[in-house]
Amino acid sequence: MPDRPIVFSGIQPSGSPHLGNYLGAIRPWVAEQARSRNYFCVVDLHALTVARDPALLAEQTRELAAVYWACGIDPSHSTVFVQSHVPAHAELAWLLTCLTPMGWLERMTQFKEKAQGQQAERVGAGLFTYPALMAADILLYRTAQVPVGEDQRQHLELTRDLAQRFNHHYGDTFVVPEPRIGQMGAGSRVMALDDPTSKMSKTGTGEAGCVLLLDPPDALRHKVLRAQTDSGRMVDPARAGAGVANLIEIWRALTGATPKAAAAAFEGRGYGELKHQVADVLIETLLPIQARVAELVADPGEIDRRLAAGADIARPEAAATLDRARQRLGLLPARGG
Ligand code: TYM
Repeated sequence: MPDRPIVFSGIQPSGSPHLGNYLGAIRPWVAEQARSRNYFCVVDLHALTVARDPALLAEQTRELAAVYWACGIDPSHSTVFVQSHVPAHAELAWLLTCLTPMGWLERMTQFKEKAQGQQAERVGAGLFTYPALMAADILLYRTAQVPVGEDQRQHLELTRDLAQRFNHHYGDTFVVPEPRIGQMGAGSRVMALDDPTSKMSKTGTGEAGCVLLLDPPDALRHKVLRAQTDSGRMVDPARAGAGVANLIEIWRALTGATPKAAAAAFEGRGYGELKHQVADVLIETLLPIQARVAELVADPGEIDRRLAAGADIARPEAAATLDRARQRLGLLPARGG
């Protein structure tokens, strides 16, 4: 099917993947993968923007690829590979960095949040220029759609602006991609369980608020039961505070229920019952995924073989786009002819 749209997305192998990554990204990827030609990348170069333990980075890179497959990413529709195995990402990132106004990067809220409170001496420049690398990831594959969570919207806008800027100055080179956010309804912004005013994240408020996909069942239930709610006791969906609304959204995203069905399921029920139901569906969803991840990570050689095969598919696609961009910029071809 040559006319299927090209989809690209990725997750950083920093920390263990969490429920926000699953509901905002992996689950929508799996649901839609048969309709498109997909590249799902483990973006290890992005993970270098903050200091990493090298052994842990290698382990988490394999683990994240295993999570993609365990969640249902299917090799017949989707190419899974590691960003640093395709050198065109780093090279196009440089070309785009040179084209990116400082002011655009200064406006990125994610940079402001991550750099906040840290001394300038301790923040790597990669954290600042990171959106140009993300744009390179996407533009290399002539991507039409980028399925991500709500928190990536601003980076996607910058990617579109950069593609248009390049095309305007140097001639039509890049496809301008569309974000695909929250088409599944719930799940595009999962909030931390211990602080429902901030998004769930690996580096956010803390362990207690972040549901890891590989948390054992008792930890999953414990985290959900301790989730922050409010001074009420019974669920009133129309007036639910942020904590209760987040739990209902998580339940809805995991079950695929409509907002109306979710409201009907919990109206007038106690907070404790809501929490137990969320924990039940979480455990039911994650247990089979965890079993598949355990099987896959037991054979790192096989993971490496699959990732090498993915990179072999991605490399020529990326190289073709990079070549076009190099020519447009007036860089001499490496070989005469
Ligand atoms: P990262 O690794 O922080 O997150 C990976 C994906 O998970 C989504 N996500 C969430 N969705 C809902 N609720 C949450 N609490 C939540 N937390 C994370 C993110 O929106 C994302 O889709 N810059 C990207 C990685 C990246 C990328 C790319 C993505 C690099 N190159 C190219 C798409 C295309 C990032 O740091 O995501």
